[in-house]
Amino acid sequence: MAKRTTSFICQACGAVYQRWQGKCEACGEWNSIAEEATGEVHAAPVASGGARLKKGRVIALEGLSGTPMDAPRLPAGIAELDRVTGGGFVKGSVILLGGEPGIGKSTLLIQAAAAIGRAGARSVYISGEESAGQVRLRAQRLGLGDAPVELAAETHVEDILTTLAAGTPPRLVIIDSIQTMWTDAVEAAPGTVTQVRAAAQGLIRFAKASGAAIILVGHVTKDGQIAGPRVVEHMVDAVMSFEGDAAHHFRILRAVKNRFGATDEIGVFEMGGQGLVEVPNPSALFLGARDASVSGTAVFAGMEGTRPMLVEIQALVTPTALGTPRRAVVGWDTNRLAMVLAVLEARGGVRLGQHDVYMNVAGGFRIMEPAADLAVAAALVSSLADIPLPPQAVLFGEISLSGLIRPVPQSAPRLKEAAKLGFSEALLPEGSAESAKQAGLKTRNMNRIADLVAEIAGGTPRQRSRG
Ligand code: TYD
Ligand code: MG
Repeated sequence: MAKRTTSFICQACGAVYQRWQGKCEACGEWNSIAEEATGEVHAAPVASGGARLKKGRVIALEGLSGTPMDAPRLPAGIAELDRVTGGGFVKGSVILLGGEPGIGKSTLLIQAAAAIGRAGARSVYISGEESAGQVRLRAQRLGLGDAPVELAAETHVEDILTTLAAGTPPRLVIIDSIQTMWTDAVEAAPGTVTQVRAAAQGLIRFAKASGAAIILVGHVTKDGQIAGPRVVEHMVDAVMSFEGDAAHHFRILRAVKNRFGATDEIGVFEMGGQGLVEVPNPSALFLGARDASVSGTAVFAGMEGTRPMLVEIQALVTPTALGTPRRAVVGWDTNRLAMVLAVLEARGGVRLGQHDVYMNVAGGFRIMEPAADLAVAAALVSSLADIPLPPQAVLFGEISLSGLIRPVPQSAPRLKEAAKLGFSEALLPEGSAESAKQAGLKTRNMNRIADLVAEIAGGTPRQRSRG
């Protein structure tokens, strides 16, 4: 019989305290600490006949060949998803998929489950939020009504494990969502950190023992943390986040952690009436409705993992009406913008202290690379001077605090993609000029921030526009 004890646990990060307090010292969150029953954790039963290593048993690394690890991946056949997982679901691996409510997690996973089922493997979808009927209805609406997927509405981990262990071992199991799961192993209420952690442990143990790949859905709070399940992040093999902007149809799948693949690959989907559709050429989509004749827009030739991606950066610089000018950014890092503004002012002589600055990355896309510095600076100067940039030009380059513009990695694929999409010029640091020539683009070398300012404001005056 477990001793009945309670602890105070931060629901955001899982830190444990002896008594209640208003602020979690570990993660800085306010009002996140709740009292939970934390009886002794019994080891959840492994409901499968899968091999379990005996206590203290070791195996030689090279002795591992010849085990089922030989063919460990199962591709879903959805290219954008397989790209992010690193080529398919690894046998016995557990993925945590986070995302805001309504972003399309359940839609993506029922599509993945159907694809695996159609490929002839046992595929199970367990919903703790919707009834089996609701899940079936959605599948039918997506044209997947005939896919061989086992559906269940269940939240009790021990029952789930018993179901999974019956029959042929499943190859893919979807748990939608981990916050709704509970196990007998602990006494805490469902949804609490203790329950989420224990339920995840039971499921992870099943995955390792049976070879099934399990995807746990985790809901995300406003500020982007996977609520509760954040404490699960270190237990799983991969953490993925499904992002998007409610106002746009694009959805981006990103690997935050991946023990079996790169974390810089993204998958791009479009949410439509038929569910999520893959977007094999996102650049064309992101640049689709572009008007190159207005000032304040620049095309950044970016990279997402191994894939080049062209996106439009928009800036609007207007005289401020307030004492403190506003800086608003969507799709980029606010601190990075502050740095570019400071360098423009200190090294380029561009005065922006009396101007509001708004910056947006078109299409709801989010850029992570410092390589976007030059394109951001160009959009800002172009907006301030109200002079459009050359319409057929792409830009990239990292700005240093000294005002120098540094070359960035992988210039060749960036420029090839630009040429493919009909761009004829590149504004870039001299170090990347050779790749531009090879791609057949004209170049304008930008080695200092002052070169950029001179190029835009002091260069040949172009047709002025009022956009
Ligand atoms: P859902 O997968 O339920 O989101 P999550 O599981 O992340 O909470 O997606 C719900 C949203 O997606 C809903 O607002 C409607 C939209 N949607 C479509 O636009 N087309 C579709 O075919 C489907 C199934 C959903
Ligand atoms: Mg859902």
